[in-house]
Amino acid sequence: MPPALAHFFEHDAKPFALAARRSKSLHQSWVHPPTEPGKVVDLARKRQGPTNFGYLIHECDTGAIAGYIEITNIVRGPFQSAYLGFYMFKGYERRGYMKRALGVIIKRAWRELKLHRLEANIQPENAASVALVKSLGFSKEGYSPAYLKIGGRWRDHERWAILANSRSAASQETPSSQARAAGHEGGQDTGAILGAARRALARQQPLERRLVGHGLLDPFP
Ligand SMILES: CC(C)(COP(=O)(O)OP(=O)(O)OC[C@H]1O[C@@H](n2cnc3c(N)ncnc32)[C@H](O)[C@@H]1OP(=O)(O)O)[C@@H](O)C(=O)NCCC(=O)NCCS
Repeated sequence: MPPALAHFFEHDAKPFALAARRSKSLHQSWVHPPTEPGKVVDLARKRQGPTNFGYLIHECDTGAIAGYIEITNIVRGPFQSAYLGFYMFKGYERRGYMKRALGVIIKRAWRELKLHRLEANIQPENAASVALVKSLGFSKEGYSPAYLKIGGRWRDHERWAILANSRSAASQETPSSQARAAGHEGGQDTGAILGAARRALARQQPLERRLVGHGLLDPFP
């Protein structure tokens, strides 16, 4: 069953904190999400726009929180750029969820947030994340020593970025990709997957209501 995407709200704090607590072996030194509900509430409050947004990946069958994506520090003017952060929670990795979800969020960044560029900073040893962004069409722009303090240590990062007009799959805005993204065509692309997710949710009324209450995204209304 494919995943669904929803906005991240304060009422997600408890399950998010629990998921973060049991994901330390997956998150290693790459990310340190908050594990206390109070701190998750703080994070959610800071991710309601207009310059910072948080999204949750939900497993359709159960509604469980499977992963998290954020677009932060949007700078307008001639820059139109922002940072992209992401992590799965333990037990939901390697199912293709993150790649599909990032495909949707990146397209939203171009279409709805009108961004020109997204930047992901990744520790060089984080092979999974490097492979993931490469597969989405990001390019390596540079190397930043002691760039972010994570887990109490300043850590080197590679700077990966994607542009709205790049030729990558995550950036293409052809009429057929728009139609598919709107769920009007079949195939294994993100639009079809989310279309299937919405149909699955429609069959599961209580879960649908729960996710809509959580701000279920209609990816390309
Ligand atoms: C990186 C991460 C988000 C990937 O999420 P995921 O849902 O497992 O990724 P997907 O299943 O969508 O995989 C997409 C691609 O990513 C790459 N990938 C994912 N996990 C990988 C791994 N353990 N080793 C190598 N490549 C990996 C592969 O290219 C994969 O495509 P493939 O399955 O066709 O080979 C997840 O491993 C994670 O949460 N890591 C810890 C947090 C983190 O590093 N966040 C980013 C900080 S910059």
